[in-house]
Amino acid sequence: MCGIFAYTGNKGKEAGGVLLDGLLSLEYRGYDSAGIFTPESGSVRSPGAVAELRKKMPKDFAGKSGIAHLRWATHGEPTEKNAHPHGSCDGEIWVVHNGIIENFKELKAKLERAGHTFSSDTDTEVLTHLIEEHLKHEKSFEKAALAALNEVRGTYGIALQYKKEPDRIIAARMGSPIVLGLGDGEHFIASDPTPILPHTRKVVFLEDGEVAVISPDGHRIFKLDSTKVKRDATDIDWSAEAAQKGGYEHFMLKEIMEGPEVIENTLRGRLIPEKGLAKLGGLETVAKQLEKIDRIIIVACGTASYAAQVGEYMLEEHARIPVEVEIGSEFRYKKPVVNERTAVLAISQSGETLDTLEAVREGKRHGALTLGIVNAVGSTIARETDAGVYNHAGPEVSVASTKAFLSQLTALALFTIFLGRQRGMTAAQGKEIARALKELPKKIQAILDTKEEIQKLAKKYAHARDFLYIGRKYNYPIAYEGAIKLKEISYIHAEGCGAGEMKHGPIAMIDENFPTMAIAPKDSMYEKMISNIHEIKARKGPVIAVATEGDKEIAKLADDVIYVPETLEMLSPILNVVPLQLFAYYFAKEKGLNVDRPRNLAKSVTVE
Ligand code: AGP
Repeated sequence: MCGIFAYTGNKGKEAGGVLLDGLLSLEYRGYDSAGIFTPESGSVRSPGAVAELRKKMPKDFAGKSGIAHLRWATHGEPTEKNAHPHGSCDGEIWVVHNGIIENFKELKAKLERAGHTFSSDTDTEVLTHLIEEHLKHEKSFEKAALAALNEVRGTYGIALQYKKEPDRIIAARMGSPIVLGLGDGEHFIASDPTPILPHTRKVVFLEDGEVAVISPDGHRIFKLDSTKVKRDATDIDWSAEAAQKGGYEHFMLKEIMEGPEVIENTLRGRLIPEKGLAKLGGLETVAKQLEKIDRIIIVACGTASYAAQVGEYMLEEHARIPVEVEIGSEFRYKKPVVNERTAVLAISQSGETLDTLEAVREGKRHGALTLGIVNAVGSTIARETDAGVYNHAGPEVSVASTKAFLSQLTALALFTIFLGRQRGMTAAQGKEIARALKELPKKIQAILDTKEEIQKLAKKYAHARDFLYIGRKYNYPIAYEGAIKLKEISYIHAEGCGAGEMKHGPIAMIDENFPTMAIAPKDSMYEKMISNIHEIKARKGPVIAVATEGDKEIAKLADDVIYVPETLEMLSPILNVVPLQLFAYYFAKEKGLNVDRPRNLAKSVTVE
């Protein structure tokens, strides 16, 4: 999720200052590199956030219009050469982009054959050369841009500038948000209203497949087939902070609501459903080595370690390879048995968790093949592992990890298909998993649509000082994930427990003041879960059940039920965790706590 901002005006404002101030308010969207372009002064780009860019800007940097960008890397390391804006061969066409261009490799090859030379590893740069190529035949820059966009597959929110038409800027939206700011003698383009608000509250949100041209005195909107679009402006009353949160009260809720889009982005370009295959470019270089490994050790911490545990079930059942999960802080001290036939897989949202990083280094010392499932491109774990898969989940701001966890489970399912098809998984089995993965975004949306019901439940149980979370098999780790979500933002005692383990101790805690969240989908463990719920009810313990839509039996037993859609057993954790994320969020909100910045915690634990 990058941040783009563009400006054109005839009010005597310096575009450089307007754009840099705007980028500052967009830093929550990405901060591994930044850049700016104006027709008068050209481009300045820098790794790091806006402060680094500002230091690099020449004193005489000028312009009445320009485009600017904050990067959250998806393709290409976070370096200066990969920072946006990107320019065409002749330096006349410049672009800033938020999204992922799926067919950039084939477009790049075609353009290189046509003589274009590329200066970055990004997918974005393809756009400028494609437009440059079309400009050889089209009557105008606008038509060349339209022709180019009709060749692109993937997602984009872009701003384009052509040096020969300095006061006009083109925007286009497909899957990544774009909003226009309508000022008096000045117009804006941005990823969200935040940087626009200090100048005007009149905005127009573009829809997918729409293109806009702004100039100091006006704007036009049309579709990719050039048909005109008429859309009234909206006056928004959000504060800048609310705009950063997309209108939600907290980043945590915003990030939970991004779940469907995050699954789509994690899957984008990585499934071949008709063949039941997963295409993981980041593992291509080690595919042969992966055929030879006889064991996987997944190392991670906290929420990532619970994703790892789900991965263990997926890989053992469907790729038939022995897997064990080790938390980073233990693995590095336990003298593990590791050799060159072992793969050590690190899962980390930040890619900087020291315990996980040191576990990777321990695996390397023993000759293991090291892999990563990481969200932050170019992070230390991503750089130190031999190969890996990026989540493409976008920056996760809230300390409590939610959308990244969904992405980690999705990436593990892709890895299961990838490895499974090397080890006897049939095409039919691969197709079944691929089909079910593609259905997840709309099923998650169906759960999110019931968030008011879950909020009522959180209010009903907000008095609780203790909470037990129970699950079995694929939902055993989800019991632990649900518990950590609740404890880390509401500070109450919440513990995960394998439902089968209750009788070995934890059930002694149960009474009418000690509620239990029971994750009991209609899967192979359903009857066992029902027995466990009976055991709790027999001790007067309140029970909230997370159950499969249509299960009326469980409603006769549990005090409350949260229904989720059906899916494959191995993918059910991806659905079952969503109500637990919402429950924890509303529970902490009900207690008036600082949901995004809980006490004693940091987003990335870079110390021992
Ligand atoms: C999750 O809600 C917590 N914030 C924490 O457990 C986190 O998952 C853990 O610190 C690992 O972080 P990482 O994924 O960035 O390595």
